Amino acid sequence: MAKALMKIAVKVQKGDCLTLAGDMLAVGVFSDAPAGSLAKKIGAAVGKVKKLGDFEAKAGSHCLLYAGAKSNAQRVLLVGLGERTKVTLDVLRKAAALAATKAVGLKAKSLLLSLHTDISAAAKLDVSQIGQSLTEGACFGAYRYDEYLTEKSPKRVANFKAVIVDSDAAIVTTLRKGVLVGVVMGLAQNYARTICNRPGSVVDPVSLAAEAKKLAKGISGLRCTVLDDKQLKQKKMGGILAVGQGSATPPRLIVLQYVPVGATKKTPAIGLVGKAVTFDSGGISLKPGAGMGDMKFDKSGGIAVLGVMSAIAQLKPKCRVYGLIPAAENMPSGASYRPGDIVTTYSGKTVEIQNTDAEGRMILCDAITYAQELGCKSIVDIATLTGACVVAIGQKRAGLMGNDDKLIGWLKDASDKTGERLWHLPCDDEFVEEMKSKIADLKNLGGKWGGACTAAAFLSQFAGKAKWAHIDMAGVGVWGAGENDAPGSIGFGVRLLTAFAMNYK
Ligand code: BES
Ligand code: ZN
Ligand code: ZN
Repeated sequence: MAKALMKIAVKVQKGDCLTLAGDMLAVGVFSDAPAGSLAKKIGAAVGKVKKLGDFEAKAGSHCLLYAGAKSNAQRVLLVGLGERTKVTLDVLRKAAALAATKAVGLKAKSLLLSLHTDISAAAKLDVSQIGQSLTEGACFGAYRYDEYLTEKSPKRVANFKAVIVDSDAAIVTTLRKGVLVGVVMGLAQNYARTICNRPGSVVDPVSLAAEAKKLAKGISGLRCTVLDDKQLKQKKMGGILAVGQGSATPPRLIVLQYVPVGATKKTPAIGLVGKAVTFDSGGISLKPGAGMGDMKFDKSGGIAVLGVMSAIAQLKPKCRVYGLIPAAENMPSGASYRPGDIVTTYSGKTVEIQNTDAEGRMILCDAITYAQELGCKSIVDIATLTGACVVAIGQKRAGLMGNDDKLIGWLKDASDKTGERLWHLPCDDEFVEEMKSKIADLKNLGGKWGGACTAAAFLSQFAGKAKWAHIDMAGVGVWGAGENDAPGSIGFGVRLLTAFAMNYK
């Protein structure tokens, strides 16, 4: 039985951060300004590390102080914020994440955060949004996935608390508004990370559907229905069925629904569709062995949608939101779908299978069709869809494609706000042409080049009249081991699509 993860809480408190007790105090320092009033109060230690050149306070840097720091905390962490006027919400989010990572690494139970002093004036940032970003960062940085570590030592703490401190009562009140939103976002993102990090033996389509039901049961305003393999057959969802037919665990289509209070027939509905291939071996077109274990993360898009639905049920946007999660395991067996098969999708369109490893589009297309049937006028899908996207734009941004400039614009806005970055790529007619088959309406494989674009072009053929956008997150969902203290899923997409839904008009 897996053990419970560390519980994370974030609060705001009025007070003097130097006199409050705690296991660690994190203080923000600018690179282009002399130590600010707070850093000065901490004492000569700050001036010294700056003078020695040991700490330039560049964004992303830090310096740990013990002796000579005039604080009641056990230790003081100086966190670089870079240039004073260039501080953004993302810089603050990352600074809080760094502080929390270091605190948890030192087994601190409590972290006092004073990263934001002087910032709202310098960078004209909204104080409530500062509170939200610091909170999201603290939740993110504190997260560790250790459910299956059974060794007693080294012990980690069971509860971790970050406290944002400010001496001004009015600022505390405004910060608190943002903290409440940040806690929902941050914990929803960590929830998504945990489900993603679980292996394919634990998270399969059936257990994932049970998890979604459990989630919906625990949050009022969220409903969950699941189409099982029998219902998928009745409905002729041929894409999901084909991908799932080689596995010992049958596929599912998970449908989560959020309806705002006072909704009428006119209340618009958006559909968020997430690919949940609980393990992608490639199927009969088997993947090479090296790194195949990482294909447990091929459910990241679907799990992001799960996280988003948990966040929005608490934050309550004005639109209806459907979260659709087609879930299947792509395995090679005597029952698998094959290269050469022709699959009739839920839309009625037929697809010639040229490679069983291009399975994501086969499950997404059915869910995209179903989203229209549910009345979604805007549909956004998110998926670890193509290695080609990673080749094209790397691991810092997800690919963004679609058929509507307005929708693309809204997603870019959400991306700017949340720091989950996107890059717009094409998927128009030229790419659609490449996906036509001579023996079926479409084929599931394009040519050698532009695989992210041809995959999106394939999906575009199932969007009908809906506004549709596609996020290819193959490159951005996971942190490798060794680079950081929390390898595995980063829960990409939860903040992004929650912000998108919250601002949808
Ligand atoms: N799940 C993979 C895409 C992927 C690759 C995600 C690397 C994360 C990291 C997807 O199902 C896949 O196998 N895509 C193939 C498509 C090809 C057969 C057209 C790919 O990218 O090679
Ligand atoms: Zn695949
Ligand atoms: Zn896949």
